[in-house]
Amino acid sequence: MTHPSSTVAVPPVSEVPKHIAIIMDGNGRWATKRFLPRVTGHVRGVDAVRGVVEACVKRGVDFLTLFAFSSENWRRPAEEVSLLMRLFVTALDREVGKMHANGIRLKVVGDLSRFDDKLQEMIASAERRTASNAGLTVTVCANYGGRWDIMQAVNKLAAAQPGRADFSEDELAAELSMAYAPEPDLFIRTGGEQRVSNFLLWQLAYSEFYFTDTWWPDFDADQFDLAIDSYQRRERRFGRTSAQIIEQKKAS
Ligand code: IPE
Ligand code: IPE
Ligand code: MG
Repeated sequence: MTHPSSTVAVPPVSEVPKHIAIIMDGNGRWATKRFLPRVTGHVRGVDAVRGVVEACVKRGVDFLTLFAFSSENWRRPAEEVSLLMRLFVTALDREVGKMHANGIRLKVVGDLSRFDDKLQEMIASAERRTASNAGLTVTVCANYGGRWDIMQAVNKLAAAQPGRADFSEDELAAELSMAYAPEPDLFIRTGGEQRVSNFLLWQLAYSEFYFTDTWWPDFDADQFDLAIDSYQRRERRFGRTSAQIIEQKKAS
């Protein structure tokens, strides 16, 4: 199923965001402040993921997308990269059964070809196992980059129909790695930075942005509620005027 593009038609807006995308940032600083190794921050970050997944299920969110490893994170020291990979394997091993039992569908998107065979196989098997679950869809973005995503979509289109030069937005959106999800309603970044860091560049066109100084391991259900409260106070205009939105609300 493909979803309408926010720039092609005004999408429906609901009280509870249907899709929340999060840059889980600040694990390293959380640990450093406590004189702990950075990896401890990543381990605690996995606990925070569990809490946010539960909060999304409770609130009736349909899609939760988590930035776990960016295409630029390979620039980190080799030791941290390899610890992150190992943590990914352990977390998959531990969490997939629980997710499956709770009706959660797991997806992993990004250029997975750079991961070792064992990890690739674990990912494929976790996706297969949870594929027909109808609850929350949790997408983990791993070796993901927004530019990579747009380029792989363009290349797929061009390869399928050589010589064509008039592709539409909808055709491109259908080739993005998260074509199964609507565009995020709410984008959250923890850890104090206010930047997109090459996350979902295409899909964030009309998302509401929420930044918090809270480090990811401290992002709990209360923090999650604050983000939702902030979202619910926004007026999503998609290019229209405030008066038009009020008129539309009256009419419905
Ligand atoms: C986010 O936390 C997790 C990953 C990028 C894998 P960081 O590791 O970026 O933590 P800080 O930003 O250094 O505190
Ligand atoms: C973004 O965080 C990527 C993830 C959370 C996985 P970074 O910590 O890598 O972002 P920058 O480098 O501060 O922009
Ligand atoms: Mg960071």
